[in-house]
Amino acid sequence: MAEPLIDRWIRRQRWMDGFAEIIQKGIGWIYGVLGRPGRFLQDLMHGTKVLGHPLHPAITDIPMGAWAVAVVADFVAHFTNRLPTEAGDVALAVALAAALLAVLTGYTDFHHTFAHERRVALTHGLIMSVAVTLGVVSMALRWWSGSGIHPLAVGLSTAGFVLLIVGGYLGGHLVFGLGTMVNRNAFAEGPEDFVAVGVASDFAEGTLTRVDAAGMPVLMVRDGGELHAIAAVCSHAGGPLDEGTLDGGVVTCPWHASRFCITDGKVKNGPATFGQPVFVVREIDANIAVKPEVPLH
Ligand code: FES
Repeated sequence: MAEPLIDRWIRRQRWMDGFAEIIQKGIGWIYGVLGRPGRFLQDLMHGTKVLGHPLHPAITDIPMGAWAVAVVADFVAHFTNRLPTEAGDVALAVALAAALLAVLTGYTDFHHTFAHERRVALTHGLIMSVAVTLGVVSMALRWWSGSGIHPLAVGLSTAGFVLLIVGGYLGGHLVFGLGTMVNRNAFAEGPEDFVAVGVASDFAEGTLTRVDAAGMPVLMVRDGGELHAIAAVCSHAGGPLDEGTLDGGVVTCPWHASRFCITDGKVKNGPATFGQPVFVVREIDANIAVKPEVPLH
């Protein structure tokens, strides 16, 4: 398959890597110095807490829609006088307020991107940041110029909207083309019924063991004598949970430190927003078998 032109071009922009790393470190530092509230805020921005789903794509529709209304209202007010000039001002104000949250959630997700995905995410983020800056300058001009249409303000917000569409295309490409923040277990193929994965002595207390259950990697953990099983591929970006760490019934992913409960697969901390599929463990005469608690598909 030929690589899309946009990917081919961005893949060559290696200079972005150093710049992206500085931004990522800055984001990590800000959340880090905030301590526990920072961790909660980060989970909130990812969508791990409260929403239980990536928050950024859910937010971005608001500034997109409101900004489109602002541009249309500005032009209708200018050419027909059938709308007050304030209509565009109000719509743009709504767009910018929502865009602020979109920027915060977007840069939080960007914090954990890597390689080509990171370059695309950076391009997307920078385009959106310029768009928002144009919108803010347009809003300021409207504020200072008082009532009546201000051609430069309208021109700036219109240019910002064009950038918003270009940036939105790249954001869609990140999710649908590159799989950023997509649940890595959504397409997993595994057993429909119990399948043998070993014998009881294979799973020592407190160790993380990866087994193959009809083609699906499963993490086996004996904790307090009881054997638990969840999908071994981290839902966030595919990290190997069996190479992570176990503490108090919670496994931490080695890649970006998402934390999952080993008994119910729920996310304790992001960046993951989706839980891990859970497996029922059956032991008969020391033979261990597992099957998905709920059908995978
Ligand atoms: S792959 Fe990112 S937290 Fe596991």
